[in-house]
Amino acid sequence: MKVYLETYGCQMNVADSELVLGLLEREGYARTDDPAAADLLLVNTCAVRDHAEQRVIGRLGELKRHKRSGDVLGVLGCMAQRLGPTLLKRAPQVDLVVGPDGYRSLGALVAGAREGERRTDVEFKSWEHYEDVTPARAAGASAFVTVQRGCDYRCTFCVVPMTRGPERSRKLEDVVAEIRSLAARGVTEVTLLGQTVNSYNDGTADFADLLRAAGAVPGIRRLRFTSPHPNDFTDRVIQAMAGVPAMCEHVHLPVQSGSPPVLKRMLRRYTREAYLDCVARLRKRVPGIALTTDIIVGFPGETEADFLATRSLVEEVGYDDAYTFKYSPRDATPATKIPHAVPDDVAGERLQRLIETVRTVARRKNLGLVGSTHEVLVEAHARRGDALQARTRTNKIVLIEGPAGWIGTYRDVRLTGTTGSTFSGVVTDGRTVGRPDGHTAAGGLTVLPTV
Ligand code: 5AD
Repeated sequence: MKVYLETYGCQMNVADSELVLGLLEREGYARTDDPAAADLLLVNTCAVRDHAEQRVIGRLGELKRHKRSGDVLGVLGCMAQRLGPTLLKRAPQVDLVVGPDGYRSLGALVAGAREGERRTDVEFKSWEHYEDVTPARAAGASAFVTVQRGCDYRCTFCVVPMTRGPERSRKLEDVVAEIRSLAARGVTEVTLLGQTVNSYNDGTADFADLLRAAGAVPGIRRLRFTSPHPNDFTDRVIQAMAGVPAMCEHVHLPVQSGSPPVLKRMLRRYTREAYLDCVARLRKRVPGIALTTDIIVGFPGETEADFLATRSLVEEVGYDDAYTFKYSPRDATPATKIPHAVPDDVAGERLQRLIETVRTVARRKNLGLVGSTHEVLVEAHARRGDALQARTRTNKIVLIEGPAGWIGTYRDVRLTGTTGSTFSGVVTDGRTVGRPDGHTAAGGLTVLPTV
């Protein structure tokens, strides 16, 4: 039996897909990249914006073509959870609809579907961590490790509490045991995953304890996490970050808006000042830390002044990068009841202006880095050309020349140019090359376009 699985959405979904493949391997399935060759076709979905769902609907139409009689087509993940049985009605080619807590019974559900049953499993299981399942991870130096599932925040725009259920944390010992086994297989970089990962608490240990324990696993050279909530950066957590050598100098810190009244209506539970204070505390304890964020424009009631406050926050923080989104109303979320919807063309125009600001700020920052030396992990062949793609601890992408054998290894590189977002670099292995004396990078060095 062969399974074909497509994944949409966040890193948590990628990790969940690895769990699903692990479960199905136990049932005797082998993976295929060819939908036409599969007996079981699965799509692991995202529900965070309407656009994500529309893409899946379109894709389900295409996958229908590969479905031979006896094959099973299943929808997994957040969209499955959100729509439940209505998805079976809406998409007659779909046999199974299984939410993020239902994967344990996937084998049985698939067997039923082969007999012609169309089934839905969208029950939340507040105990479910799939602790006994070994995820089928892609080989490589990097691995995602889920430490927390669900979300207890209630941001008014967000569907995730409805699709992933209540927050729960894995036991610290279980997480550490998993990281040890990954290290034994050659993994050197681990990204801890949770919806609000720094609110991690297993009843005994908090996120600071987890960072220390994970960072102490021999062989783990890089530790990352995503995504945190600004309110859960206690001094304890920041102190742990500063004290763990493996902890990378990058935090993705979603702000959503820079306007105080919009933050209030979003129920983000922090003020602009409190967010900026979090940024300042991180920068003080973790020098050189790179900061990226998520921003929503066009939230109900957002005025031009609110938008300008968001833009000024981007400039004030000086983000290394930002993911920007137009607000997308999600059924049954509290924000759908907030009056004064922003017209689509206004939201679209704000999005364009925000993207411009984000690019300008990031470019300025990245130009200032040209000439500096960084340790990179070589990740893969670049998408185009014959360069290799590598990543700094601060999460900057660097294209370098080198043999394929370098993939999975660490190198020192000097950044030689930037497109404004990604870099080109040369390997300076074996010796640490600092910035040439008295040289200001942006002023003196040629900025080369990367491939
Ligand atoms: N509309 C637009 N963007 C959203 N996000 C979450 N919900 C919505 C929504 N309803 C964005 C947030 C979040 C990211 C993962 O997706 O910025 O941080």
